[in-house]
Amino acid sequence: MVHTRNAILPDVEQIHAIIRAYSGNGTLLPRTLAELRENVRDFVVAEDDHGKIVGCGALHLYGMHLAEIRSIAVTPSTKGLGAGRKLVEALLQEAARHEVTCVCLFTRIPEFFAHMGFSIARRDDLPDKIYKDCVHCPAFNACDEIAMYRGEIPKHNGVRDLQIPKPLVKLTV
Ligand SMILES: CC(C)(COP(=O)(O)OP(=O)(O)OC[C@H]1O[C@@H](n2cnc3c(N)ncnc32)[C@H](O)[C@@H]1OP(=O)(O)O)[C@@H](O)C(=O)NCCC(=O)NCCS
Repeated sequence: MVHTRNAILPDVEQIHAIIRAYSGNGTLLPRTLAELRENVRDFVVAEDDHGKIVGCGALHLYGMHLAEIRSIAVTPSTKGLGAGRKLVEALLQEAARHEVTCVCLFTRIPEFFAHMGFSIARRDDLPDKIYKDCVHCPAFNACDEIAMYRGEIPKHNGVRDLQIPKPLVKLTV
């Protein structure tokens, strides 16, 4: 029987191994050990009866208007046993605990997430994600991932609050 719990630092190497197994073919974005240590509090893991980590998923918070499910995967031998659903449910509960009103994700398997209650979104409705990741991605203009959301599409977003930084020194003399 698989259960989920919040990840802790000693889990990072197992999380890294799960993500690495799916990042070679572009299914998941690669994550370095350093990134995972820094963001370990975003992660939930699925653990089997022997304490082995068989799945992981992360919730990145943009603000109360939006969070994003990322890096969700289970080991090949655990697929189809309900761990993926438990991870999604745990991440949605975490979003609810923070009173987040919309959870989004980008995926090539929309059927799985539709099954979990997500609907297809317009990318333009999720500018936080576009500014954070997509603009830096080589596939920006040829992205084959489907944007999905659950909850209320944000009416206003964190990006609107961004200030253009003022130069530290005067540029003209
Ligand atoms: C996607 C993934 C996390 C699903 O995990 P899982 O443990 O196999 O899923 P579950 O067993 O919890 O399945 C839950 C339900 O979704 C369905 N489902 C599972 N994978 C599905 C898929 N690819 N398409 C449609 N439905 C799917 C199951 O039939 C099950 O339905 P039920 O509850 O009505 O019986 C897993 O297949 C995986 O790790 N894939 C590789 C990594 C990946 O693609 N991650 C997503 C990146 S956005």
